[in-house]
Amino acid sequence: MEEPSKLADLAREIAEEAGRLLVHGRPGDLGVLSTKSSPTDVVTEMDTAAERLIRDRIALARPGDAVLGEEGGGQAGSSGVTWVVDPIDGTVNYLYDLPAWAVSIGVEVDGVTVAGAVAAPRLGEVYTGWLGGGAWCNGRQIAVRSDTGLAGALVATGFGYQAARRDRQGAVVAGLLPRVRDIRRAGSAALDLCSVACGRVDAYFERGTQVWDRSAGGLIAAEAGATVAGFRGAQASEAMTLAASAATFGLLHDVLVELGADRDDY
Ligand code: IPD
Ligand code: CA
Repeated sequence: MEEPSKLADLAREIAEEAGRLLVHGRPGDLGVLSTKSSPTDVVTEMDTAAERLIRDRIALARPGDAVLGEEGGGQAGSSGVTWVVDPIDGTVNYLYDLPAWAVSIGVEVDGVTVAGAVAAPRLGEVYTGWLGGGAWCNGRQIAVRSDTGLAGALVATGFGYQAARRDRQGAVVAGLLPRVRDIRRAGSAALDLCSVACGRVDAYFERGTQVWDRSAGGLIAAEAGATVAGFRGAQASEAMTLAASAATFGLLHDVLVELGADRDDY
């Protein structure tokens, strides 16, 4: 039996250690090591160093577990437990030394996310959650903001790295802006989900996230009382991830479907 609270504790410890490496080991002249899906989808030497540390710590503590990491890919295990790792979520913020970036570690047992930790050391915050155990920030239990209605909703979102998708995402935001309180684009999907969890925004949506962006934060938001899902009853996925308290979720869902927020074409 894997105890979700113990897995969350270990995820937090490892995320905090990686966070310390990222704060204290960040070179003053940090540059781009390589690029991925587009010239602005960057990897720094610190993304790879942090993921190496996280993989080493998991292998030491739980040698039978599988790991799926943004930079290093999948590594099979035998225990049924998979660690889903984003060493730096918000890499562009990290590159520019903006503080909104995080180490995100989710833990799945037989494909179900049961624990997660999101450490944001430059914000002095670490979020944790485990299945049935609630959501926490720096040891304090957190909960979503109560429903404000669509016109009162502060909505976080993010944009992909490819020009065609961004073109469409811009159009969706243009359609949404007149109908909500305002929009925020902080630059880290994991932190956006934690912001829903602690009531700093009312909702978050994004097309194009990867599982390591949303694994830990999605569980933390759900444990804080959010509905976290895709469109039309689907699970949260790369196609669409939407998180908000139940009533706001329903209202925003319908507007975003109408605006075609899960499409890249017109
Ligand atoms: C990105 C961030 C960003 C989101 C992108 C992600 P990365 O992750 O979470 O906020 O808009 O979709 O890819 O590249 O910084 O790990
Ligand atoms: Ca990421």
